Amino acid sequence: MHEAHLTIDPAFQVAPVRRRTFGTFIEHLGRCVYTGVYEPSHPAADEDGFRRDVLSLTRELGVSTVRYPGGNFVSGYRWEDGVGPVSGRPRRLDLAWHSTETNEVGVDEFVRWCRKAGVEPMMAVNLGTRGITEALDLLEYCNHPAGTALSDRRVANGTAEPHGIRIWCLGNEMDGPWQTGHKTAREYGRLAAETARAMRMVDPGLELVACGSSGSSMPTFGAWEATVLEEAYDVVDYISCHAYYEEKNGDLGSFLACSTDMEYFISSVVATADHVGARLRSRKRIDVSFDEWNVWYLSRFQQAGPREDWPIAPPLLEDHYHLADAVALGGLLITLLRNSDRVTAASLAQLVNVIAPIMTEPGGRAWRQTTFHPFAQASRYAAGDVLRVEPVSPLYETAEYGEVPLLHAVATHSEEGTTLFAVNRSTDRPLSLVIDARALGDARIVEATTLTDPDVYARNTADAPGRIAPRPNPDIEHDPLHVLLPPVSWNVIRLG
Ligand code: AHR
Repeated sequence: MHEAHLTIDPAFQVAPVRRRTFGTFIEHLGRCVYTGVYEPSHPAADEDGFRRDVLSLTRELGVSTVRYPGGNFVSGYRWEDGVGPVSGRPRRLDLAWHSTETNEVGVDEFVRWCRKAGVEPMMAVNLGTRGITEALDLLEYCNHPAGTALSDRRVANGTAEPHGIRIWCLGNEMDGPWQTGHKTAREYGRLAAETARAMRMVDPGLELVACGSSGSSMPTFGAWEATVLEEAYDVVDYISCHAYYEEKNGDLGSFLACSTDMEYFISSVVATADHVGARLRSRKRIDVSFDEWNVWYLSRFQQAGPREDWPIAPPLLEDHYHLADAVALGGLLITLLRNSDRVTAASLAQLVNVIAPIMTEPGGRAWRQTTFHPFAQASRYAAGDVLRVEPVSPLYETAEYGEVPLLHAVATHSEEGTTLFAVNRSTDRPLSLVIDARALGDARIVEATTLTDPDVYARNTADAPGRIAPRPNPDIEHDPLHVLLPPVSWNVIRLG
């Protein structure tokens, strides 16, 4: 048995909990849109063709923002294809995912879906094959009240009120050679800056996200952010980070420590942004939008090789997550929360079917993957302020990250109570956690749940959707406060 300690003190505030930390992502990719959120022939479809079962799971997941329409898809997208009468919408080749895009769903449907789901839309513009004009056109179509050609077109298409989209991504992963219209940092920085400047002429209050690196291992990482921000610092609010992790070569210990890379990624990007700000003598601060993050078995996707055909909504990137994936994802969430002073927006990629917490069968059932649970619990219980906790924990050796603490944790505190989120990364031993909460007065554990299983590779399926779910943790003591965290577990401990 290992033992760890931590202290919870409401005086140690990092920042408010940012609701946008709990964003996700819907891309025109595989079955995310078609047979995911939208399936008019499904028995649970509503009058707009949206699956009610998916809407309900999205609400339960506690999603704040949803990024759309990509991803790699956006870099070849013509938004005009997806508005107006559906019967007149063109079919196009989607080069990013070697698919045929029917355009049955476009921006108006997406925003309608967002309103039903109670989430904030986050829109990306195409800076791969397109540029300033098309970004401005989309902005005018979406946000201008009426009285111009494009805003009147939106009204004629059935949406009298402006969509009022506040947060916009200036392209997607423009540092990646796989991106249609991939650019050098200088080329992209110039284009992003000029697009942002023009968009601000329409509405100075927009929140704009410049593309950062597609991963901390990109060859241009660091230099990319510096160059892009040299060009765009004054006119953007965020620089993005994207990161995906998977268990490689059966090395579970390294995989469970993947948030170490996310931590390094965030601190490097923040340092780079602040360095550019200092050189520009700017008092403005650029925040991080971690607008793609997740567990993704990318190596399996790459091994599948190129496609020959151009199918409509093929099953792509449909990872079936096991318990260890959910615990790794919980660790990533803890890292995002711990960095809430600078990471003020994030998007779990993606929402449905495509590397997603929600899975569906076409015409059939929808269920929660294992990864649904840490996200839903964190979104539900993280409230008020994020508190810095500095666990004193045994370390373990990993091949990828060297020595890493077994315990990874963060706490949040509001008038309603205090919640501790904790991961035990040990693959074989429980961790005895002693909590010093004297600063909270007479605190008691009102609820402790754990997500764990003797089989770390156990999954949820349509037939066994509840195999992996949070269960009450029976191993708690009140004097002193003490919880036993099973090996490979995600834990939520609520104090009141
Ligand atoms: O989320 C899947 C893909 O991952 C996105 O389209 C792209 O931006 C990233 O490489």
